Amino acid sequence: MKAISRAARFAQRTERLRASTIREMLKVTQQGDVISFGGGLPAPELFPTMAIADATRRVMESRGPAALQYSVTEGIPEMRGWVAQRMTRRTGRPFEAGDVTIVNGSQQGLDLIAKVFLDPGDHVVLENPSYLGAIQAFDAYQARYLTADTDDDGIIPESLERVLERADPFPKFLYLVPNFQNPTGRTLSAPRRERVVRICEHFELPIVEDDPYGELRFEGSDVPSLVTYQSTAPVLYSGTGSKIMAPGMRVAWLVIRNEEIREKIVLAKQGADLHSGTFAQYVFHEYVSDERAFEEHVRKIAQTYGRRRHVMSAALANVGHRGLEFSRPSGGMFLWARIPGVDTSELLRHAAERKVVFVPGVSFYPARDVHDGMRLNFSNAPEEKIKAGIERLGHAIASSA
Ligand SMILES: Cc1ncc(COP(=O)(O)O)c(C=O)c1O
Repeated sequence: MKAISRAARFAQRTERLRASTIREMLKVTQQGDVISFGGGLPAPELFPTMAIADATRRVMESRGPAALQYSVTEGIPEMRGWVAQRMTRRTGRPFEAGDVTIVNGSQQGLDLIAKVFLDPGDHVVLENPSYLGAIQAFDAYQARYLTADTDDDGIIPESLERVLERADPFPKFLYLVPNFQNPTGRTLSAPRRERVVRICEHFELPIVEDDPYGELRFEGSDVPSLVTYQSTAPVLYSGTGSKIMAPGMRVAWLVIRNEEIREKIVLAKQGADLHSGTFAQYVFHEYVSDERAFEEHVRKIAQTYGRRRHVMSAALANVGHRGLEFSRPSGGMFLWARIPGVDTSELLRHAAERKVVFVPGVSFYPARDVHDGMRLNFSNAPEEKIKAGIERLGHAIASSA
């Protein structure tokens, strides 16, 4: 019998898999005295722990074994109905339970989309910079990336158009985080949304609209979701309970009107995990069915993050470094800072010595060619820690610039 050579033991797709800087950093932040702006964690003290305990008891009493049994791949009907209803209410456009697939975190949704659309070497269009977790998900399917430029209003339509005109092979989809993007905190402006939808319609390019942060707005008013525009190009909308309830539940959803795509996603999910946890879906649904309490909860999260963002930007303004620029997002969990001429991976080393960490921006550029940015999370640490952490960061900047 011939042995497989060591080099050929693993599938080629594993060659692209790298340890994520973010996950590595989460390990460092387990040390108690480190202030972390690195992870993407919600504020744990806002998790509705006791309300979830009550919901769990009610589910066990009323559903019993059904909540512990295998279920259908698409998700329990109650959850699919709730998502459709909420989307309809928030957008003013009709959505149906049949459009919804419940997934195990929106990260699984990204994996399934990649599984369904991507052959090795296929192109995906990304905004530059982009969410690292999406790049990781697409990397596993050996994707290649085309990047469109961005500014404070999100992806630049002219840049997208240029990329699509020149693309060879033509990309399989455009991946976007239009609200309070991870990592920049930027929101795609309404006029640009219309333009992006029309460009994708012209090129018949599907759009993946990843929207974990849309409900975490603490200033200004909502901008219409891309999935609400009338268009012949399919929009695959991804939402999640991670930031409005708790990420440990792993309850999230894909909303896809195109039946052919939806069916392929469901088949891909069947092969991956049969279905998302029945228990978590029932508990999630039971918790959100008290609508007033749930709305109040989401409002409280957004308000708290608004105050933390304010504290962080005020502290950054106090750092007083001439080159330091930073965004002031109206929602979400991240703020983006730049220090032109400074390699923020180097800066991170100085910062970690002073017991404060962030994610260097280079991780979010598929070509890993821009080194002066950093992502700062403002949702996880309380206000006093944010002030202290930015002061430490200021010292690190002063000592390394
Ligand atoms: C843009 C974006 N998409 C997806 C995810 C994954 O979220 P989930 O917990 O739903 O898997 C995150 C998490 O931070 C994110 O920032």
